[in-house]
Amino acid sequence: MNNEKPSISIIGAGAAGTALAIALHRKGYPIHAVASRSEASAQRCASLVDAPRTTTDLALAAQSSEVVIIATPDGAIRQVCEQIARGNGFSGYQLVLHLSGALGAEELQSARDCGAITLSFHPIQTLSDPQKGAELLIGSYFCLEGERAAIERGQALVSDLNGTALVISDQDKALYHAALCMASNYLIVLQDMAVRMLEPTGIPREQALKALLPLIQGSVDNLLHSGLPHALTGPISRGDSQTLESHLRAMSALPKDLVALYQSLGIEAVRVAREKGNLNPADARDILILLEAPNQV
Ligand SMILES: NC(=O)c1ccc[n+]([C@@H]2O[C@H](COP(=O)([O-])OP(=O)(O)OC[C@H]3O[C@@H](n4cnc5c(N)ncnc54)[C@H](OP(=O)(O)O)[C@@H]3O)[C@@H](O)[C@H]2O)c1
Repeated sequence: MNNEKPSISIIGAGAAGTALAIALHRKGYPIHAVASRSEASAQRCASLVDAPRTTTDLALAAQSSEVVIIATPDGAIRQVCEQIARGNGFSGYQLVLHLSGALGAEELQSARDCGAITLSFHPIQTLSDPQKGAELLIGSYFCLEGERAAIERGQALVSDLNGTALVISDQDKALYHAALCMASNYLIVLQDMAVRMLEPTGIPREQALKALLPLIQGSVDNLLHSGLPHALTGPISRGDSQTLESHLRAMSALPKDLVALYQSLGIEAVRVAREKGNLNPADARDILILLEAPNQV
């Protein structure tokens, strides 16, 4: 164990807390205590990171370390922090952080009142299996928001995880989180809608998703290699209004929500294609006329 790294207490031994504990442990951070609502979760996490103490006494766990990571669900962060503060779990030398993407460091005001410095420390990752999550965290981006001293200490954690820190202000946290939902959650919703569009063609739901996955992977690879706006391909990028017209005709019997989504994303695709530079103004205008009035096709 490398005692040069600050000691860590994990409060909330779920998917994110356990993944982060494993990742930090691998980078030489001693995990002094793991606390959770249930002893079973705390023990499961502790066994993966050689933590000497497991408890359901959150304040006791917090007292053990220089860095307290509150990894409970968003809705419990403020109340858990207050509970630890009431139990004298915080002190002046500590960094207290939570992992929420949507909430700011102000959720940890009760720790601040005890003299600790506070940070929202959001890994821009999807974490479910703890071991896999720990691997994913290495090299990830992390969004940090909080007071300057806390950000500096958070940046050291990110750097040890070979990651990149993005620093934003508290008033931008909700917009930041909305953008991430757009990028991640709505990608899933888009696939659901594409599968619904394939159903009338006779392609079964299970096969439809399997068939789409390599296409999605290809698009992600394009993003990786070409970035925005160059990753965009397809009929709008090529200025192919005839194909667009045939799409809209074929969709006329589909539910209105599918058609409306296709239209609005298509209008955005025209903007991206113009930015990419290979859609001329005349073709862009023809396509926009189709997308804005699909029922007349
Ligand atoms: N999972 C992700 O992909 C991800 C990514 C980035 C950020 N985050 C953030 O990470 C945080 C945790 O999310 P998660 O996905 O890890 O949730 P999770 O898997 O549900 O884990 C939350 C853990 O918190 C514990 N807990 C709940 N209420 C508690 C309380 N009152 N006192 C003590 N422990 C309590 C639960 O304990 P028991 O098991 O003992 O009941 C559970 O193990 C959230 O702020 C989330 O926004 C998650």
